[in-house]
This record gives sequence, C-alpha cells and structure tokens, in this order.
Amino acid sequence: MDGFAGKVAVVTGAGSGIGQALAIELARSGASVAISDVDTEGLAVTEERIKAIGAPVKADRLDVTEREAFELYADAVVEHFGKVNQIYNNAGIAYVGDVEVTPFKDIERVMDVDYWGVVNGTKVFLPHLIASGDGHVVNVSSLFGIFSVPGQAAYNSAKFAVRGFTEALRQEMQAKRHPVGVTTVHPGGIKTAIMRNSTAAEGVDREGLTNTFDKKLTRTTPEKAAQIILDAVRKDKARVLVGADAKLLDVIVRITGSGYQRLFSTVVARLVPNAH
Ligand SMILES: NC(=O)c1ccc[n+]([C@@H]2O[C@H](COP(=O)([O-])OP(=O)(O)OC[C@H]3O[C@@H](n4cnc5c(N)ncnc54)[C@H](O)[C@@H]3O)[C@@H](O)[C@H]2O)c1
Repeated sequence: MDGFAGKVAVVTGAGSGIGQALAIELARSGASVAISDVDTEGLAVTEERIKAIGAPVKADRLDVTEREAFELYADAVVEHFGKVNQIYNNAGIAYVGDVEVTPFKDIERVMDVDYWGVVNGTKVFLPHLIASGDGHVVNVSSLFGIFSVPGQAAYNSAKFAVRGFTEALRQEMQAKRHPVGVTTVHPGGIKTAIMRNSTAAEGVDREGLTNTFDKKLTRTTPEKAAQIILDAVRKDKARVLVGADAKLLDVIVRITGSGYQRLFSTVVARLVPNAH
C-alpha cells in the first residue's frame, strides 16, 4: 500500500485499536504522522512502531474534548510539519445503558467525546487542510450511525450526529470547490479494546457484554479496517462500510426502512440479553 508519500496525517485516539492501525498503515504508505491519545502508554507503543518503520512521527497527549488544547495542538502540528493534509477523527468511547436508567451526565460524556471530539478536530484543522491544496477529513462514525439498537441511545445519537455533520461538510467542500475530500466511516464489529474500555449504566453486565462482543460480534481486525479506510480515502469515497457485517446490515436497513427496529430489537435481546 502506498499513495500517501509527502502527506501529513493527524490521527486521534491513536493509542489503541483502529487509530493505532491507521497511524501505522499511514506511516507504511509514506505519510508523516501526528498521533495523539489520552492513553499515553498506548500512544508510546504506536510511536515506537512508526519509528521502526522509519516514518516521521509526532506524538502528543490530547483529549479531544478540550477545544482550546486542540486549537493549540493544530498550530503545533502545522509548525512541526509545515502543513497538514489529513485528519482522522477516530477517538471514541462506548457506553451501554437504556435511556430510562442512563444519567444525563453519561449521555453528555458520550456526546462530548464521540461527537464534539469530531467537530473540534474537523474545525481546528479545516483551514490547514484547505491551505494544503490536497486535504481530507475522515470522521469515524459507526454502523450504529446507520441504525439504532436498544441500550445504545447515547452512542447512537453521537454516531448519527457525526454522520450528519460529515455528510453536510462534504457537500460544502464540493460546493465551495475546496480541495478537501470528506469521508464518513461506518465500522461494523472490529476486534479492539472498545468494549473492554467502555462504561455502562448501573445494573448492566459489562463483563458478559464484553465477552459477547469479543467472541460473537467482531470479525474484522483493526489492520484490515485501516486498509479499507485508507483505500476509501484514496478513492475519496463519501461513505465507507467496514466489514461484511456492516455491508449486510446496511442493506437490511435500507430494504426494511423503519421496519428494522422490530427485527433488530428481537435479535439484540437474544444475542445480548444482559445489555439493557
Ligand atoms: N471496535 C468497533 O467495533 C467499532 C465499531 C464502530 C465504530 N468504532 C469507532 O472506532 C473508533 C475507534 O475505536 P476502537 O474500536 O479502536 O476503540 P479503542 O478503545 O481500541 O480505541 C479508542 C482510543 O480512543 C482513545 N480515547 C478515548 N477517549 C478519548 C479522548 N477524550 N481524547 C482522546 N482520545 C480518547 C482511547 O484512549 C483509545 O486509545 C471509535 O470512534 C469507535 O466509536 C469502533
């Protein structure tokens, strides 16, 4: 895989999972990479692996919810590399809990990281991407940004919002003839630490849920996911579905319209009875 020689790419949440795989694959494809995460230990692992490839890397602790820090970070990355071509707004958290029992603050936290983190990253880097003459915004939504399931109202809200924001942005860039591609990413189940790192409402069997997620719901490796995402960026696709599960469920939702809700709630109740 190549095609990113001379490009500068920024990846948030690069200390684990999809973000780590994206950063490494970008480095292999010739890009210079600015990586960040709140998990500095995981980030150090990613940094070492990129150094071993021989690609230029800048690693920083960054919480994507901290807007002012994000603004300063964007300036620092541009100063370091001289430009920025691509931002991968990937950092995210999972949460499980029915609306009835989920405290307001938990819904706000998921929106802060999963939605506002993406908005912050997009807005602080957008002027630089336009100035680069060859920019790309890659925002990670989810299959749960295409359909909803019980127990995921907070996460579903954030991921639907990421999709709405990103699809509007793509049209704006095209209307203004700005040299910036925009891609929304909808991964299905990817083998990462996301459920192990998740939080949940009181009474949810998080351990049981993590086991089910790890054993039954994830088929795609983060490395494969990164390759699929980078391929979509090369082709400037508006939307990329990652994994066979994502492709199949997207078709079911399109065929059934709102009818999927009756179907999926039954399936979810059987598959993860301890989710809500
Ligand atoms: N794994 C899946 O099945 C799956 C499916 C659909 C979408 N996604 C999305 O993919 C993205 C990456 O998730 P992953 O599966 O690699 O999970 P992961 O938990 O392995 O990695 C997420 C990374 O984001 C970091 N992070 C969390 N909060 C942060 C914050 N406030 N600021 C900066 N970094 C923060 C974490 O420390 C972690 O390193 C997320 O947006 C997630 O919602 C994952």
